[in-house]
Order: sequence, then structure tokens, then C-alpha cells
Amino acid sequence: MKTQLVILGATGDLSRNLLLPALYKLCQAGMLKEDLQIALYARREYTLESLLKEVETAWKEQGIDTRHWQAFSRRFVAYTRGGLDVEGISQLRDVVHGNAVFYLALPPGVFAQAAEYLAAVGLNREEGGFRRLVIEKPFGYDIESARTLDQHVRASWREDQIFRIDHYLGKETVQNILVFRFANLLLEPLWNRNYVEHVQITAAETSGLGGGRGGYYDQAGALRDMIQNHLIQLFTLTAMEPPSSLIYDDLRSEKVKVLKSVRPIPRHAVNAFVVRAQYTSGVVDNQPVPGYLEEEEIASESSTESFAAVKFYVDNWRWRGVPFYLRTGKRLKADRSEIAIQLKLPPLHLFRETPLDRLEPNWFIFEMKPAEAIYLLAQAKTLGLELKPRSLVLRAPYREPGTEGFDAYATLLLDVLEGNRAHFLRFDEVEWAWQVLDPIVKAWQSDSGPLATYPAGSEGPPEAERILDSETHRWRAVE
Ligand code: BG6
Repeated sequence: MKTQLVILGATGDLSRNLLLPALYKLCQAGMLKEDLQIALYARREYTLESLLKEVETAWKEQGIDTRHWQAFSRRFVAYTRGGLDVEGISQLRDVVHGNAVFYLALPPGVFAQAAEYLAAVGLNREEGGFRRLVIEKPFGYDIESARTLDQHVRASWREDQIFRIDHYLGKETVQNILVFRFANLLLEPLWNRNYVEHVQITAAETSGLGGGRGGYYDQAGALRDMIQNHLIQLFTLTAMEPPSSLIYDDLRSEKVKVLKSVRPIPRHAVNAFVVRAQYTSGVVDNQPVPGYLEEEEIASESSTESFAAVKFYVDNWRWRGVPFYLRTGKRLKADRSEIAIQLKLPPLHLFRETPLDRLEPNWFIFEMKPAEAIYLLAQAKTLGLELKPRSLVLRAPYREPGTEGFDAYATLLLDVLEGNRAHFLRFDEVEWAWQVLDPIVKAWQSDSGPLATYPAGSEGPPEAERILDSETHRWRAVE
């Protein structure tokens, strides 16, 4: 039976910049089933031909290879013009037959209505094939709104029809955390509080708020935009117990267990666990850039954070006492995303009074950006007669920057089409992620707590050090 992928909000950024290119790549690689069709729905005045022509021209201008455009464009069956109302959406009844996936590439504020209208015109009914609904983060802006959104969506869609995307779960390195942790014996004996000193999870970006994202971002901020979802996913995958299978519920249940074990952040001591900051003007990649408050669509006295660092403790047998530090920020010095695990120092008595006395601890690193790689920082002796230490990097790259490959959306789109839910979020995961951050969200809503600043192009605010537990814990360089 044929399957249709229906993109609602087809003329928006998500669709043009991420979904269509991902579908194109899959098509080019022969990964899409022969009978997969794509239907588009949006408000703007286009015909299918005019929209496709515009996309093709834009890709050519960007230097994207369009050699397979003909084969790709044949998959598009309709462009339906309509707004977000029952009348508009009811037109899709004439387009959709058989299996269908509805991808809501829409602003988060209208997810609930779109889901409801699709159901109101019967498109959620699985009479002639499966019906799936894809929604993207942000899922709400706090725990209460997330619950409300979920109740609305689940009023007409079953949980197993809903695919909540966090695109980090489609990234190669992120999926590799599972393989690397659980397909090797090497790490497991070390992966606990006996050997791990602390864990740092970083997602540093050089980009600011271009592309008209200011309005959204100023409402969200770094905590909601990145930590509540992407960084928490990296955190739970790092900290979780081995799932009993990779079937979606086993994996997701293990992640939820981690979140349930996070020590609640005390309301009165939020500032001991979190730092927020905003960038001021500066220089990024040799270009002068404005400060956060000068960006478009940002309220003039906004206290929204463009940087956040937070500390969690996981009070279970494996991790009690080991701090997990998470940080993210816009307009930082470099694009760097990684999970870095610092091991404890071995006893160094043996090396007393030699330069080996002050050795660096071992680090184990999953790098997602700039390259996709795994590496180990170890200590060795320098060549020569003296006992001098040097840090050795045992690095296994599997994708260097600029190398072709499938991106996260391609992987996840394929999963949705195949009905594989392991890498999508179950609602309790979303809810628990909000739950652990709730004291911070509430404190910031009442605008309590300091807001630091950092110049664009720097490594973030020095205040981020404040949440580190020990003098030997240092944020890794963002470079
Ligand atoms: C998105 C955030 O979810 O993730 C953006 O809304 C952020 O603000 C982006 O830039 C980062 O994704 P990636 O894949 O570039 O690390």
C-alpha cells in the first residue's frame, strides 16, 4: 500500500531547509520506497510547480547537487493551499489515501489545533492504512503547558500514532552512544561513580538568532530551546542503565528512570545549580556581531538567556555523587557539541617528584561537532630520557566536517515511515524533562537570579564556573 508524507507548513524554514533536503538525500540514495508520495500543505499562494521550481532554484544557487531532481519531484503529488482551520484542512481528505504521515512543520503554538483539525476531518482514522502524526520540540514552554498540549493531542490521536521528534536522537554520534556503550565491554566497568569524576555535556554554537528566529527564541531561551530537550537526551543516554532491548519502550523507559533519579533542584538554591547569561556585542569568526538585545525581534529589556549551564546529580547506585554539567549557548567562540566524561585520577604516588606528579585525568569524549568522533585522552611519557608526561589523543573519527552523509532528519524520517519509535520521545520523557527543570523555570519566570553577560565570540561567562563542585573541575575549552 502506498504511503503519503504530508508536510503541513510546507513553505516554512523547517520544511525547506531540513525536511525536503533530507527527503532528497534519501531518494537519491534509493532509501525511499517506490510508492512513497509527498503532499504539501501551506497557506501561501503557490502551485506545486511554482513551489518546486523555487526550491530547485534556491538549491542550485546554494550549490546543492540537483541531479536527481526529476526523480525526486515526481514523488510530489499535491500542493494544497489552506490555513489552519477545519475548512482548509478538510481539503486534504481528497489528497490522502492509504497510509499517511502528517508532519506538523508548524509553529509550536498551533500543534494542538492542527492535530485536532486533522482528527476532526477524520484523517486520524486508520481505516485504509496507518495514520501518524509528527511533532517537533518545543513541547510546551513549561510542565503545565506541556501537559495541556499533550492532552489536546491525545484527545484524538493514540500515543502510538504520535512521533515526537528531537532531532538530536537522529544524529550518528548520538545513536552511537548506545552502540559504543553497550556493544563493547570496555566502558561498562568504568561507567559509574567509582571511576567517573564528572560528566560535561556541551552544545556551543557560533550562530546567533538569524533567519527570523528572534521572536521565538526570546520567548524560549537556552534552557527551553536546547537543555530541556537535546541536552537532556544526551544526558539520559549517557547515564541510563542498559535497556533490556532496543524496542522503543525499553529504551525510553530507561531514559525516564534516569530523569526520575535526578536530585530535585531546591527552589531556594536554584542559583547553586544553574547559571544564565546573555551575549553582548563581539566578534565571531572575525565578523563583528551585535549583542543579544540588539538582535531583531528581541524585547529591549529582555532577560532571556542565550547561555545556560546547569548541574544535575543522579541519585542512583551508579551515579550518586557524580555531577553532570550541561551547558549551551549561542554566539560562542566555536561550534562544539560533545559529551565529555572525566575519569578519576589514579593514585600517583609512584611518580612523586617527577613531572608526572601532576597528570591530567583521562577523558572519554563523544564529539558531535565539529566532527563526529570518539576519543580518549590518555597520558603517556614523552620520548626521551626524562619522565615527562604528555597527553595522548586516541581519536576515532567517523565523520569529519564537510563530509557527506545522512543528517538526523533523514534518519528520523525513515524511522517514522517505517514505524520505528525508539528514537522518538514518549510523553513521560518530555514531562520528566520539564519536571527536573521546573524549579529553574519557575525561578526565572519570577525573574529571580542573576543574569550574567559574555561577549559574542567568547567561551561563555566566567560565572559558569560557579556551579562546578571542585577546583579540579573545569569547563572544557570551547574551540
Ligand atoms: C534546534 C534549536 O532545536 O537545535 C536551535 O532550536 C539550535 O536553536 C539547533 O541551533 C541546534 O541543532 P544542531 O543540529 O545544529 O546542533
